[in-house]
Amino acid sequence: MKLLITGACGHIGSFIIDQVNKIKKIKEVLLIDNFNSHRYSTLFNLNKNRKFSFYNLDLSRFSLKKFKKVDYVIHCASMTNAQGSFSVKNEMFRNNISCMKNVLNYCIKNKSKLIHISSTSVYGKQVKIVNEDDQSLLKPQSPYAEIKLLEEKMLNKNKKKINFMTFRFGTIAGVSKGMRFHTAINKFCFNAALNEKIHIYKTAYKQYRPYLSLKDAFKVFKFCIDKNIFNNQVYNALSGNFTVKEIIQMIKKYKKKTSIKFVKTEIMNQLSYHVDNKKLNNLGLRLSSPIEKDIKDTIRLLSGLKY
Ligand SMILES: NC(=O)c1ccc[n+]([C@@H]2O[C@H](COP(=O)([O-])OP(=O)(O)OC[C@H]3O[C@@H](n4cnc5c(N)ncnc54)[C@H](O)[C@@H]3O)[C@@H](O)[C@H]2O)c1
Repeated sequence: MKLLITGACGHIGSFIIDQVNKIKKIKEVLLIDNFNSHRYSTLFNLNKNRKFSFYNLDLSRFSLKKFKKVDYVIHCASMTNAQGSFSVKNEMFRNNISCMKNVLNYCIKNKSKLIHISSTSVYGKQVKIVNEDDQSLLKPQSPYAEIKLLEEKMLNKNKKKINFMTFRFGTIAGVSKGMRFHTAINKFCFNAALNEKIHIYKTAYKQYRPYLSLKDAFKVFKFCIDKNIFNNQVYNALSGNFTVKEIIQMIKKYKKKTSIKFVKTEIMNQLSYHVDNKKLNNLGLRLSSPIEKDIKDTIRLLSGLKY
């Protein structure tokens, strides 16, 4: 069977490329990216056990109409910096929504099953534990999160014409060839490794937010494709909810001299919300990959730096 990964050179896409041979039924993998993120090295030394082909194209401008049919699509192509999304709102809107429309039309036409990645940031700041099915809990706080909700709505509107799964991923932690460092854990590890102070929004220190190990993210993709579960629903996906304090304690185990600085300006990545994962558990998938291992691996990557 054939799988198409859009945004294949990114943090998540590059991890799927590395692991895809674990999904036995996938024999051929088509990769699309426009190198918006310049992560060319993600295409180095691809696993020879699978047939890969790469297409350097901008999905927001190039129609997938003439593309050959695939069985599954994992859609990762997006501009993704939530914190930076305020200053590039229009461009992010144009890029991400055009990519989504393109992928949606392609999947409808070819009956390809779609895995769509949304984000737990659609919940914004919350006091309660949040679940997928209470619409009143949706309070996106950035253009990035607003766009994610719009994508979800586009799918819902077309739900009679397409088979899909939407996963609201917690902030990703973990090492991949295309990893990026503008999300919370990875950024903190990077700061710690460079002996820089980690900036933390004061009131966020003891509040919870959801994180997802890259290994669990892959487990989600494998689960859907292996079991062929595409029920047009939305699921939260997280390895656990942790406070910033807990994350810093984990980092300190591997980088003892880590220091923090409390700041008054709110930092997007540190909005507080505690996410419920029962719906995914009830589907038969439990995620429990230890975030601490991802932190250890990330700090290790940079352990050659001596101060
Ligand atoms: N990383 C996280 O913490 C996280 C959390 C929740 C949800 N997500 C979502 O998961 C998906 C993948 O995230 P990621 O972390 O791998 O992001 P990323 O920024 O690392 O990768 C996105 C990739 O998409 C490509 N791209 C962007 N616009 C494109 C276009 N028009 N045509 C072709 N390629 C294009 C970029 O070049 C990049 O390689 C995104 O939808 C993101 O919003 C990520």
